[in-house]
Amino acid sequence: MQIHTSIASLRAALRQAGRVAFAPTMGNLHAGHVSLMQQAHAHADCVVASIFVNRLQFGPHEDFDKYPRTFEADCQKLQAAGVQHLFAPDENTLYPQPQSYVVVPATAHDNILEGALRPGHFQGVTTVVCKLFNIVQPHTALLGKKDYQQLMVIRNMVEQLNMPIEVVGCDTVRADDGLALSSRNGYLSASARAEAPRLYAQLQAIAAALNAGATDLRALEEAACAQLRQHGWQPDYVAIRRRADLLEPGPGDSRVILAAARLDGTRLIDNLEVT
Ligand code: PAJ
Repeated sequence: MQIHTSIASLRAALRQAGRVAFAPTMGNLHAGHVSLMQQAHAHADCVVASIFVNRLQFGPHEDFDKYPRTFEADCQKLQAAGVQHLFAPDENTLYPQPQSYVVVPATAHDNILEGALRPGHFQGVTTVVCKLFNIVQPHTALLGKKDYQQLMVIRNMVEQLNMPIEVVGCDTVRADDGLALSSRNGYLSASARAEAPRLYAQLQAIAAALNAGATDLRALEEAACAQLRQHGWQPDYVAIRRRADLLEPGPGDSRVILAAARLDGTRLIDNLEVT
């Protein structure tokens, strides 16, 4: 695997690379990230990953400074997954001047769910992903459904800004007990880690109720929040939405249940698609 810290070096290497599949990350890689790299091979001759902890998408009181940085271990995992090129710029390379041209997701999506709770977050994501797409110029980009709203926002950006990129959404990789793998799981104490699978268990309970014909969505959402609260969580939301745009579902819409909740100071998100 070649490691590129400069844009010029990456571009030179990709000039003859054929079809390129690209998976952007912030590092501290786990099996969820690795699964994106593995799936990427089916779409391209050349798989490119990036590692960049993007300051623009962190709020002032979020974990930018303490975000885990594990570059050596990450490189080993990417190498093992057959990634040919890693783009790992420093902040000066990606943001040589303060970024004054940004991609603003001026849609409802920026104001609901994660967008409502993390002001400016998606603008930070779309801005850096747009820059990374312009630098890498991939044919295919692989993103995880774990960050369901992020996947949707990036899909919409690619479509509306006519970027010639196929966006592939990849299934969430979970621990044996159901907890979605996340770099932030490492912040959990042993007791919080043992409690953490409850978030996905609540999503599964809602899915089972929906499959059994339940129709009062608010009651299901509130019951899940109450269960979480009883076990020491502070839920931000549990929301049953339609998959297409994450707004309120109508009859016959395919749905997804999304949740975000804080446990022991760590904010976890998860989701589950239901028919
Ligand atoms: P990061 O959190 O490092 O995630 C990188 C990619 O891995 C994202 O597409 C994310 O959805 C995916 N991913 C994370 N956990 C996963 C899991 N358990 N199973 C499958 N895929 C998983 O998301 C970001 O970085 C950043 O916002 C980024 C897009 C890189 C822009 O800075």
